[in-house]
Amino acid sequence: MRRVTAVAPGRVNLIGDHTDHAGGLVLPMAVDRWTTVEGVAGGAEVRLRSADEPEPAVVPLGVGDPSAVEPAWARYVAGVVAEVGPAGGLDGTVTTTLPVGAGLSSSAALEVAVALALGDPGPPLDLARRCQRAEQRASGVPCGIMDQLASAAGVGGCALRIDCTTLDVRPVPLPDGLAVVVVHSGESRRLAGSAYGERRAECEAAAAVVGPLRDATLADLAAVADPVARRRARHVVTEDERVDEVVAALLAGDGRAAGAAMVASHASLRDDFEVSTPALDALVERLVATPGVLGARLTGAGFGGCAVALVEEEAAAGVAGWRVRPVAGASVTVGDVSPP
Ligand code: GLA
Repeated sequence: MRRVTAVAPGRVNLIGDHTDHAGGLVLPMAVDRWTTVEGVAGGAEVRLRSADEPEPAVVPLGVGDPSAVEPAWARYVAGVVAEVGPAGGLDGTVTTTLPVGAGLSSSAALEVAVALALGDPGPPLDLARRCQRAEQRASGVPCGIMDQLASAAGVGGCALRIDCTTLDVRPVPLPDGLAVVVVHSGESRRLAGSAYGERRAECEAAAAVVGPLRDATLADLAAVADPVARRRARHVVTEDERVDEVVAALLAGDGRAAGAAMVASHASLRDDFEVSTPALDALVERLVATPGVLGARLTGAGFGGCAVALVEEEAAAGVAGWRVRPVAGASVTVGDVSPP
């Protein structure tokens, strides 16, 4: 019998939100909070217990519709089983140091850890694609690939510039002297599935007029008659530009320029994409007024959850929140079960 241990990190997105589903640019980093799946391989089902959940996930290898599985957390396990199609089951446990529902991709970390524990052969991009589909099938949210790819392909000390059209992944070192702090708004993220889907559909409506938003200019968007779709597309087009501004600023060690682009990103997510909340707006305002904070913005899907702040290293201890560090992506170890 084989004992497997798979570990997958969560992620925080420095900039580039609601661009992945439109083929745009993102800049997430895998962070030092992880989900671990440990167990013994074999059998005809995947049975996982979690210290944070009253009911275990028990998923037969031939599971049909992951979204119908109970309890709700088991749907993510079921989505992975359905996508990976493992030859055998697994009996084990899930533990995590990630807060759930905070916008740090605890679900992506769970999917990636389960997939690796079930023998997903990778490479990281294929693993991420299967886990993205698992998330979509489990939750009904038509998410992009950012969260799963950041968890699978993280590079220690670096954020990842991901081009969500070509799926080219480029590590961008976080310069010395800068820290990343995540602060919860106090509103647990209602994974407003329908609002996420609506936003994505609005972007697609704009793209149907002007072509892929990745290649569109602000001038092109004048052709989009619907003012809502036009604003959504304006967010995507300007956010793509800001991602590369932050990449250039980080490479030049210019924390101030990176922070300014993050503040502009928040305004765009608030005004054009309309995924912020009053609590997130107040939090970002408070963070930006804090000494040593170079910039802040909501991170992830929005609708609640966390803000991310870029902070001067020496000021980081004064910002109440979770200091996070960029880490390597998910990994798995396999060994023989020692005889009793
Ligand atoms: C969620 C989705 C991602 C991405 C972000 C917003 O985390 O899972 O694919 O769209 O929202 O950037």
